[in-house]
Amino acid sequence: MLELHRVSYRYAGYATAVLHDIELTIADGEIVGLVGPNEAGKSTLCLVASGLAPASIGGALSGSLSIDGELMAGRPPHELAERVAIGFQNPDTQLSGVTATVFEEVALGPMNLGLPVAETLARTREALATLGIEDIAERSPNRLSGGQGQLVALASLLAMHPRHVVLDEPTAQLDPEGTRLVGEALRALAATGTALLVTEHKTDLLDGLCQRIIVIDGGRIVLDGPAGDVLADERLPGWGVEPPSRIRLARAMAGRGLDLDLIAGTLR
Ligand SMILES: Nc1ncnc2c1ncn2[C@@H]1O[C@H](COP(=O)(O)OP(=O)(O)OP(=O)(O)O)[C@@H](O)[C@H]1O
Ligand SMILES: [Mg+2]
Repeated sequence: MLELHRVSYRYAGYATAVLHDIELTIADGEIVGLVGPNEAGKSTLCLVASGLAPASIGGALSGSLSIDGELMAGRPPHELAERVAIGFQNPDTQLSGVTATVFEEVALGPMNLGLPVAETLARTREALATLGIEDIAERSPNRLSGGQGQLVALASLLAMHPRHVVLDEPTAQLDPEGTRLVGEALRALAATGTALLVTEHKTDLLDGLCQRIIVIDGGRIVLDGPAGDVLADERLPGWGVEPPSRIRLARAMAGRGLDLDLIAGTLR
């Protein structure tokens, strides 16, 4: 379980806070979606939820981050990294820069956990297969497309079998097939009891994946509720969030006097 209680955060050297009074609990096995317009504070919230802010990047935090009921204030960055895995908005930031192949890159995490070689190899192969990137296992991590880099970064994270995961726009550079594979991988990870926070502009991905969605604007939570309710909220576009296609379609048809349920019933 990951909990933020009354969290406000200010970057080092800045006078004003960019997050205000954030209250968020993610239960084991739960996937919570995070949406909002540009500059709302989504990436900052990811940094705070992972503990990187302030432990690694400084700044001032009030309120608290707890993992499995333990307060994380004052813990060193390496201990936080063991508790919460984070996937950054830009995958280039994530790649280690010290490995020669994608396979080594994905194996690096399990190796650093001190796992036996057989377990490391098994986890690496499984993560590559889950995201459909076995074919680039021998490629250099420096010579990947943006989408491939994003999948490799996520595979590295999956291979660690993390219990808490924070992902900042994990499919931003992915095509529909890559996006679908990421969705399946996250669902499978949650089924093992992992708590996930996922920032994402693609509401079609969040629809059906998340139990809950929170909307932030201006560094504040403006809506928090069951995914179906939040995605159907009429105010969503006003917060810079496009509703999923099924809702847009239903509204467009209703606008022309067509009843989607009635049509679906006729087709059945
Ligand atoms: N390292 C930093 N130092 C100071 N201010 C920052 C830093 N990073 C972000 N900010 C500011 O914090 C606010 C929130 O930014 P953040 O990156 O969290 O937004 P976001 O919702 O992730 O936006 P986007 O959708 O563009 O990724 C913005 O006003 C931004 O300028
Ligand atoms: Mg961001």
